[in-house]
Amino acid sequence: MTEKPTWSQRFETALHPAIARFNASISFDIELIEYDITGSQAHAQMLAHTGIISPEEGEALVTGLEKVRQEYRQGQFKPGIDAEDVHFAVEKRLTEIVGDVGKKLHTARSRNDQVGTDTRLYLRDQIQQIRQYLREFQTVLLDIAEQNVETLIPGYTHLQRAQPLSLAHHLLAYFQMAQRDWERLGDVDKRVNISPLGCGALAGTTFPIDRHYTAALLHFDSVYANSLDGVSDRDFAIEFLCAASIIMVHLSRLSEEVILWASEEFRFVTLKDSCATGSSIMPQKKNPDVPELVRGKTGRVFGHLQAMLVIMKGLPLAYNKDLQEDKEGIFDSVNTVKACLEAMTILLREGLEFRTQRLAQAVTEDFANATDVADYLAARGVPFREAYNIVGKVVKTSIAAGKLLKDLTLEEWQQIHPSFETDIYVAISPRQVVAARNSYGGTGFEQVKQAIATAKTQIL
Ligand code: ARG
Repeated sequence: MTEKPTWSQRFETALHPAIARFNASISFDIELIEYDITGSQAHAQMLAHTGIISPEEGEALVTGLEKVRQEYRQGQFKPGIDAEDVHFAVEKRLTEIVGDVGKKLHTARSRNDQVGTDTRLYLRDQIQQIRQYLREFQTVLLDIAEQNVETLIPGYTHLQRAQPLSLAHHLLAYFQMAQRDWERLGDVDKRVNISPLGCGALAGTTFPIDRHYTAALLHFDSVYANSLDGVSDRDFAIEFLCAASIIMVHLSRLSEEVILWASEEFRFVTLKDSCATGSSIMPQKKNPDVPELVRGKTGRVFGHLQAMLVIMKGLPLAYNKDLQEDKEGIFDSVNTVKACLEAMTILLREGLEFRTQRLAQAVTEDFANATDVADYLAARGVPFREAYNIVGKVVKTSIAAGKLLKDLTLEEWQQIHPSFETDIYVAISPRQVVAARNSYGGTGFEQVKQAIATAKTQIL
């Protein structure tokens, strides 16, 4: 430490250099600098508004803080480890610029309500940005869905062929997940957007401050009702990390599917060169690194959520330095979610080609139409469970005979049950199997077209 800490007067000896490094958060909380400046400007305006400082002093602080912002943006102000944290860094630089009046900025405020304010302002901005990334992700899903209403793809349960689907329907499932993510972030924002400014260190302040005034300047919806809660609450961070984790769950599931689809075993998609990578030893390889990385990065976001929960558990009221540990996880989660949403959006938009011929063939080579045979009989009066048992036997004998259901002759069908007629062949064709699932929210083409129309209005 070349410079003494702000709080050094009370201390006899200097901080051990390693402890100073250990204590400092400037290396990462610098991310908050613009929010810190904005929050401080609102605080200074409030101090002047309430007569705690003069209007001229308020003006000097606001302008000086703006100068700090400009210096930072232009790369002239680069706070080092001496500053301890971003709050001290800004206050010190302000005082260098405006002189003694800078020392009035921290009247009726603590770093505890300050850091809470900064983090909330940061997250509020980031939430809006992530919601925008989600919209772009949804848009590309919708675009591909629109082009593929009648493209069929095998549908799976237990990763076993189950019933064929419209490819659009499959992609729209991810659209809906992203829609919930978008809405969930909006809900989280309600708890992010509450002002702790003016809660002071923990107990409020002796000055006649106006917390609603700063809240309004900073566009917060409301203010914390309890000062202890205001400075020590990180529920909003937990909620954000939870929402971020759920986004990652969705991206990771899609990633897993893309990885499977790109494999030789599935061959449902081809990866384009712009979004795939090669191997250092196996010349033939084309690897799905993008979805693999997204799947892998999911782990760190989950980890940050877990860390935040553990940080909070057992913290006595009010502020404890443990809370400094909230920031890196939040920043990393924000950056990870944005990067993954962007990468997956690009992958879908230009890195992936569905192999439609292979898909068309895939839906004809299995027993995924067996339910439709049972439904055929059930629609003609055979109780469903009975029909199901009949078809189960048919599947068994067909497998033994090396045949698919479409290969059975009309005679064979009628031996199985007299209700079968020539229309059974249409009923079990993959196209009809999909088209017939016209129940609300199903994969039938009519439903899917309506779902696309609704989805378009959801992202307006
Ligand atoms: N750097 C600190 C943090 O991130 C700021 C608040 C410090 N408050 C205190 N009482 N030491 O949490």
